[in-house]
Amino acid sequence: MDKIIIFDTTLRDGEQAAGGTLNIQEKLEIARQLEKLGVDVIEAGFPVSSPGDFKAVKLIAAEMKESVVCGLARAHPKDIDAAWEALKCARRPRIHVFLSASDIHILHQLKKSREQILEMSRDMVARAKKYTSDIEFSPMDASRANPEFIYQVLETVIEAGATTVNIPDTVGYAIPAEFGSLIEGIIINVRNIDKAVISVHCHNDLGLAVANSLEAVRRGARQVECTVNGIGERAGNASMEEIVMAINTRSDLFNLKTSINTRQIYKSSRMVSELTGFPVQPNKAIVGANAFRHQSGIHQDGVIKMPATYEIMDPKSVGIPASSLVLGKSSGRHAFRERLAELGYSLNEEDFVRSFEAFKELADKKKKITDRDIESIVAEEMRNIEEDYKLKRIQVTCGDRGIPTAAVRLINPEGKTVEDAALGTGPVDAVYMAINRLVKVPNNLTEFSVKSVTDGIDAIGEVLIRIESEGVTYTGRGADTDIIVASARAYINALNRLLATRKSAA
Ligand code: KIV
Ligand code: ZN
Repeated sequence: MDKIIIFDTTLRDGEQAAGGTLNIQEKLEIARQLEKLGVDVIEAGFPVSSPGDFKAVKLIAAEMKESVVCGLARAHPKDIDAAWEALKCARRPRIHVFLSASDIHILHQLKKSREQILEMSRDMVARAKKYTSDIEFSPMDASRANPEFIYQVLETVIEAGATTVNIPDTVGYAIPAEFGSLIEGIIINVRNIDKAVISVHCHNDLGLAVANSLEAVRRGARQVECTVNGIGERAGNASMEEIVMAINTRSDLFNLKTSINTRQIYKSSRMVSELTGFPVQPNKAIVGANAFRHQSGIHQDGVIKMPATYEIMDPKSVGIPASSLVLGKSSGRHAFRERLAELGYSLNEEDFVRSFEAFKELADKKKKITDRDIESIVAEEMRNIEEDYKLKRIQVTCGDRGIPTAAVRLINPEGKTVEDAALGTGPVDAVYMAINRLVKVPNNLTEFSVKSVTDGIDAIGEVLIRIESEGVTYTGRGADTDIIVASARAYINALNRLLATRKSAA
């Protein structure tokens, strides 16, 4: 069986999704999970693009043991040098050079000739090759380019040392049969193609990213670039979990394998959703909340008699927790620790103690603690690390008479307790006004949403917000059974991210 190389670009193209910025610690956490998931290549970032990205790539490169760590670079000497600087401590580094290849990009954006593109591609691949042997090259917008020119570019870069040639459908324009033919054309027409792996990188503007990637694989591509939950620029990239599970489930057709530990898929999806603040739609294939739920009586009857009647995959195979065991007030540390392990968490002692305290506090308010509650607790406790401002207490008066009023007490970065009060149009507005008086960072709230983690009136409420300051968007999340407290936590979380980003940039 041939192997399909899974190249994950959640931390690069995925993070390019509007509003999806991750901080360095979050990137590192996702990279660790990607390695557990078994991805072959982690595209950790675009080192030249910002000091934060450079640092994240460097930290990921230093820590990953199995996965190749890749850094993106334009066909520019300073990009390639920066990529190498960030990657040089990796056990298995890869430099990924890209340059536009379609006439529409070459003429209107780069204002260059095809000859200049060939020359730049060759020279920059050769420059990268001096640093490391593992070089990937992408002719950007390949699906809208002249195929004969793509053949020429690929031949040139392979000659210069590229070991992977990636065919991007940059704007998600391709249709499966056509994209498959492009791959076949490359195999037939590029003289030295046997010296490189053919990769594909599909965007989802027409909802065809996974279909295009799979057709390319059927026609000979052996690396697929994808992201967890399909996040990415505009409509996103091909979804990793859909590609992997299609190859596994239809091995009768593909006769291919991947090195993905599919039982880590659900955990990876939850983590990426949590840290980027992009919820997973309920009907999302493989990882959506309804992906394995059967509503119709006929379907339920069939699944009870034999799951295969209406289930083409076993939910356990993608790591969806099988047990519906519910914890409660009387559950102790041992039961909590075991449940965490079953859900795939391995917390250090400090995080465990904080999470257990939060669990006990929740169990006092809520009778049944489910897996989703536990996931929410762990996310909340892990989020509280390295905060400049900490929420100590809030008190709110509201109702249909009088003006909503909030008093807020915070611990500031110097460790001092500070407090203030404010009026607002509603309780959340009042809380945010009071926080603004203490933190004093001008910003605009651009998104605010509340959702309950589980059914029931006593459920935990999760608040997701996005704030914008000086053209940059920051995400904040908070969870509590009291949604005003959750809203305050989300706001503090977003402000802390903003302050941390400014600090690291300074
Ligand atoms: O979509 C694209 O073309 C890219 C390249 C950098 C590979 O992301
Ligand atoms: Zn892309």
